[in-house]
Amino acid sequence: NPKALRPQPGDRFAYLSGENKDKPVMAADIKIGDPPRLAYPVDPATETIRSGSRVNQVLLIRTDPSALTPATAPRAAEGIVAYSAICTHNGCPITLLDGDNRSVVCTCHGSRFDLADNGAVLTGPATRRLAGLPVAVADGFVTVAGAFTGALGAATSQ
Ligand code: FES
Repeated sequence: NPKALRPQPGDRFAYLSGENKDKPVMAADIKIGDPPRLAYPVDPATETIRSGSRVNQVLLIRTDPSALTPATAPRAAEGIVAYSAICTHNGCPITLLDGDNRSVVCTCHGSRFDLADNGAVLTGPATRRLAGLPVAVADGFVTVAGAFTGALGAATSQ
């Protein structure tokens, strides 16, 4: 089932909700300080949105490239980083950027993750980092450049 496949190299992204739902995510539209953009991978050949699996929900933000740690920088593109959007504590989607423009907050129970440092947990109750997803920019589109690095989903479902 191509809709439930994990992100594939070369996939683009489509917004998961909001006024741009199902539209492509362009690198230029993501600015430093924007809230995390939630998106699904899309097969560009068939335009299949890979929404058949909830753990395919990805969050995209643009960070200051000079702030990225060595574990993070190689899989970023122009400062844009991608992570699983599913909180590792109990599975809520992560939607809030913290004031430092590099970490995100899960509004369910307050876990914070550092997106410039490989998704590391800054504040619990989560105990496991977010899985990263390598990205590139091609023809202006944010694209998938590799497989998820790290475990997906909530700790309770592992
Ligand atoms: Fe995210 Fe609990 S589900 S902090």
